[in-house]
Amino acid sequence: MLAIAAAAAVVTTLVAVLIRWLPHSASEEMDRITFTYWFATVICIAIFSLVIGVIVYSVLAFRAQPDDDTDGPPIHGNTTLEIVWTVVPAILVIAIGIVSAIVLSKNADAGSNPLQVKVFAQQFAWRFEYPGKVRSEELVLPLRRHVKFEMTSADVIHSFWIPQMGQKQDVVPGIMTSIVVTPTRTGRFTLICTELCGLGHATMRAPVRVLEQAAFDSWLAKQKAAAGGGAGGGTTTTGGTDTGTTTGASDALGAKTFASSGCGGCHTFAKAGSDGQVGPSLDDLTGAAQKAGESVPDYVRQSIVDPNAVVVAGFQPGVMPQTFGDSLSTDELDALVAYVSGEESQ
Ligand code: CUA
Repeated sequence: MLAIAAAAAVVTTLVAVLIRWLPHSASEEMDRITFTYWFATVICIAIFSLVIGVIVYSVLAFRAQPDDDTDGPPIHGNTTLEIVWTVVPAILVIAIGIVSAIVLSKNADAGSNPLQVKVFAQQFAWRFEYPGKVRSEELVLPLRRHVKFEMTSADVIHSFWIPQMGQKQDVVPGIMTSIVVTPTRTGRFTLICTELCGLGHATMRAPVRVLEQAAFDSWLAKQKAAAGGGAGGGTTTTGGTDTGTTTGASDALGAKTFASSGCGGCHTFAKAGSDGQVGPSLDDLTGAAQKAGESVPDYVRQSIVDPNAVVVAGFQPGVMPQTFGDSLSTDELDALVAYVSGEESQ
């Protein structure tokens, strides 16, 4: 019986160990989650192998002979065995509970001086805000520092997950949820929405980059300078005619807003290189605007702010998020309208 049990244990352990089931960890939290996962799994493998071993042995050793029609012997149980199979699992389950509780509490601990990053989720895009009101569409994190994310959603429930960082947390409208991540290796990762949040759910991703502390500091300083220059208004441009730079800046903001708002996840738009099929194509809006009795820019603006006002034939109302009128700044909205309607090219 032991031989069978041991063979089963070896096979299951090989399957468990030789296949890489979990992503390569990139955070302290993921290290702890991986430990917990294997702690529970190894216990399960041992118990499973033991039970299967006993079952297989019993089937082989105690099976009735073909001509044996007699009843089995009366059995009144085995008190020692019952105590053992109650006490041992109880101890194991308690151990798993204690390890999990310690890991949960450590993974929620942001330490005394975490980097605070605000996360805004919206169908179907992520945005981040660093201390000093620095906004970014890319999530850039410093190596080996606790990062505390405070997250909220503008519309429906989303979920924040970077597979290699382990931690996962719902992002819910109306409340602030938080999560702590402490990156342990530099590199590029992807933030993935893991809550079905609408037709563009699968496209709701954001790039993540982990940098050494010094590189992170200079990135943050650069973002800060860029934001300050933008707010100062046109003083940072060098060369070119006035109209040229103004148009360029507006076009750049339009393109940036198009990308950060996740428009390309649902709409085909050649200028942005997107090929989404969820919503109507934005490549030629003249016909649709005429049908709606509006100029192209007015039609585009209305469709962003109040998407259900005019719904193109063949598409459903209520799919396009109705929150962009609130979540975009006036500058962003103007630039986006100009970018999509193509009026800045004149
Ligand atoms: Cu947001 Cu799925």
